[in-house]
Amino acid sequence: MTQENALCDIGFIGLGVMGKNLVLNLADNGFNIAAFDLDNEKVKGVIDQDRAENEGGKARVFGCSSYTELLSKLKAPHLIVLSVPAGAPVDQVCGSLIGAGIQPDDIVIDTGNSLWVDTVAREEKYKSQFILFSSAVSGGEVGARFGPALMPSGSPYAWARIKPIWEAISAKVDPITGKPIERTAPGETIEHGDPCAAYIGPAGAGHYVKMVHNGIEYADMQIICEAYHVLRNGLGMSCEEVADTFEQWNRGPLDSYLMEISVEVLRQTVGDNNEPLVDLILDKAGQKGTGLWTAVSSLEVGCPAPTISQAVYARSLSSFKEIRQQASTILEGPAPSTLTEQEKTQFISRLHDAIYCSKICAYAQGFQLMKLAEKEHNWTLNFANIAKIWRAGCIIRAVFLQSITEAFTRDADLENLLLDEFFAKQLNLHQQNWRQSIADATLLGIPVGALSSALSYFDSVRTAVLPANLLQGQRDFFGAHTFERLDQTPGKKYHVQWSTKERDLVEL
Ligand code: 6PG
Repeated sequence: MTQENALCDIGFIGLGVMGKNLVLNLADNGFNIAAFDLDNEKVKGVIDQDRAENEGGKARVFGCSSYTELLSKLKAPHLIVLSVPAGAPVDQVCGSLIGAGIQPDDIVIDTGNSLWVDTVAREEKYKSQFILFSSAVSGGEVGARFGPALMPSGSPYAWARIKPIWEAISAKVDPITGKPIERTAPGETIEHGDPCAAYIGPAGAGHYVKMVHNGIEYADMQIICEAYHVLRNGLGMSCEEVADTFEQWNRGPLDSYLMEISVEVLRQTVGDNNEPLVDLILDKAGQKGTGLWTAVSSLEVGCPAPTISQAVYARSLSSFKEIRQQASTILEGPAPSTLTEQEKTQFISRLHDAIYCSKICAYAQGFQLMKLAEKEHNWTLNFANIAKIWRAGCIIRAVFLQSITEAFTRDADLENLLLDEFFAKQLNLHQQNWRQSIADATLLGIPVGALSSALSYFDSVRTAVLPANLLQGQRDFFGAHTFERLDQTPGKKYHVQWSTKERDLVEL
C-alpha cells in the first residue's frame, strides 16, 4: 500500500485515553500519524479505531514498534507529540528519542500536565538535542477527540510550525456569541470560529496557565459540590430535585460544563431500585496535584487564592473518612431545617447567587495569580486571550468566560477582576443573598468552605483598612519588626521600645 511508505506528518507517543483521542482528532483534520506506545495493544487499538471510523477511506494512523521506527516514518524536521504522564515518564521518552537519533531542529511537544518549572528545566536540558515545546491540553477525553483547549508555550520558531495544526484540532468558539461550536462526530472538522489555541509565552508559561486553569477547576467543582451538599443534606432534596435545580441554573450565568456534568452525574441511577449512583460513590476525593501546585504557587508569589486553596483542603479533608465517621458520632450539629416551601424557594435562589459570586472570586484569584506570576517571571501574558481559549474545549468552559474576556479587553492591565465594572456590579447586586446563603448553610451545619472563603476574600478586597495595623503592632512588640505610619512619609520605619517603661516611639 503506497500510504504505508509515505512519510507521516506527526509522530505520536503515548496512546492512553487522551493520546488516542488526540491522534484521532489529528487524523480527522487531515494529518497522517505515526503512533507509538510501549504497550503494543494500545497501538493496535488506535489503528483499529482509525480504520473503523474511517471505513473505506485512506488509513491515517500507522503503528510503530520502536522509537527508531517512529523517527524513520516521519517527515523531517520531525514533529513529535507526547501524551505521557507528567514527571519521570517525560524524561524517559526524551532519553529514548535521543537514543533513537532525534535531531536538533526536531520538535517534541509535551501535552501532559507537567509542573511548569520542570518544563523550563527540560527546555534548557534538551536544547542541544531537540526543541522541547510544551502545550498543555484541557478537555478530558471528549475534548481531546473533538476539540480541546490548548495552551502552547516555548520556542516561537516551533510555534510557527505547530500553529496551523493546533488551530485545526482545537475547540472553536463563535466569535459573535462567544459560545462553543459543537463537534461531536468522528470525521467532522470545524473550519470556522475562533480557535481555542493561542501562544501563551516562553517555556513553562503554558504549563503555568494550565496549572491555574486546574486550580480554578478545583474551586469551581468544590463550589458546585457545596451547593449540592446544602440542597441535599440541608434542605433534604432528592438527587433528582438537585439535578433539576442545577439544570435550571445552567441556563443562566452559571451555564458551564461543570454544572452540566453535575446534572448528568446526579441523574445516574443503578440497580433495580434506581438508586442514585452518587449516593454509592465513596466520598473521598482524589487529586493528581495540579490544584495543590496552584495553591503552593499562590503562597510563593504572595497572591491570595483562598478559594482555590480551600478546594484543595476540602479534597484532603474528605480523605479522612474514618476520622469523620468517628467524629460524626461525638460532635453535634444544629437541628435539621424546618423551612416552609416558600422559605425553601428563597433559600435556593440565594444559593444561586452565592455560587455566582463565589465563582467570580475564584476566577479573580486565578487571574490575579497569573498576573503576579507574569511579573515575577517576566512573561507577557495576554489575559483576554487566555479567557478566550478557555471559552470552549476545556473543563472550566462556561458562558461566564465571555464576560472575563470582555473585562480584559476593556482593560488589558486589570489587576483584579473585582475591579472590573461588570463584575463589581454583579457582586454589589448579589452580595446580600451571598451573605444570607452562607448564614443559611452555617446555621444548618453544612460546611461551605469554598463559598465562605470567597465571601471573606470579597470582604477583604473591598476593605480599605484591614486589621493588619494591629498585626504590625504585635510583630513590632515581640520582634522589633517595625511599622510604617499612615500619618507620616511612606516607607519611613518606626519602632516602639515596648520593653522599657517609657515605651518611646523611635523613628528609624
Ligand atoms: C483538564 C483536566 C485534566 C485532569 C485533571 C484532573 O483540564 O482536562 O483538568 O487536566 O482531569 O488533571 O485532576 P485531578 O485528578 O487532580 O482532579
